[in-house]
Amino acid sequence: MLLTHKKLSIKQIQASETWPLRHVVMYPTHPKEYVILENDKEGIHFGGYAEGILVTVVSLFIKEKNAQFRKLATLEEHQGKGYASQLLSFVFDFSKKKNTSKIWCNARENKANFYHNFGMTKTNKTYKESGINFVIMEVNY
Ligand SMILES: CC(C)(COP(=O)(O)OP(=O)(O)OC[C@H]1O[C@@H](n2cnc3c(N)ncnc32)[C@H](O)[C@@H]1OP(=O)(O)O)[C@@H](O)C(=O)NCCC(=O)NCCS
Repeated sequence: MLLTHKKLSIKQIQASETWPLRHVVMYPTHPKEYVILENDKEGIHFGGYAEGILVTVVSLFIKEKNAQFRKLATLEEHQGKGYASQLLSFVFDFSKKKNTSKIWCNARENKANFYHNFGMTKTNKTYKESGINFVIMEVNY
């Protein structure tokens, strides 16, 4: 059953504002610094707020016609409410307005269905990191 949830308020944020959420959601057993990307400074970072609380984040890296999003994460207690979907839709619209023709990501294998809902398909590029299986997924438009 599809439940209705509050609409997210989405805004651009600093890379450093994404770090605590990336850490607690994605790599809680690693040191805090583990989630800092070397090219975070080149990224465009977005946060989704529900009732004033930062509940979901994502980082976008545009290189010419290609947009890559990374580190999509929603606080565990707020997952399944459609927040990451709203944030990702926003990022897709944003990327299209920037004249890109492809969006891609390194997807955790167990999240491939989630990205499939956005029209993304698996490429044949796979790898394993920190014990997690990844597959590169993309959509051209
Ligand atoms: C992946 C992740 C970002 C999704 O965040 P989320 O905010 O829970 O995402 P959504 O709520 O938009 O969607 C999650 C599921 O709930 C479903 N859903 C969304 N809105 C819904 C609603 N209103 N009612 C019922 N179900 C809903 C979606 O269809 C989706 O289902 P699926 O996974 O079977 O496709 C989150 O699980 C997460 O942070 N995981 C840990 C980090 C991670 O793995 N990041 C991705 C790396 S590739």
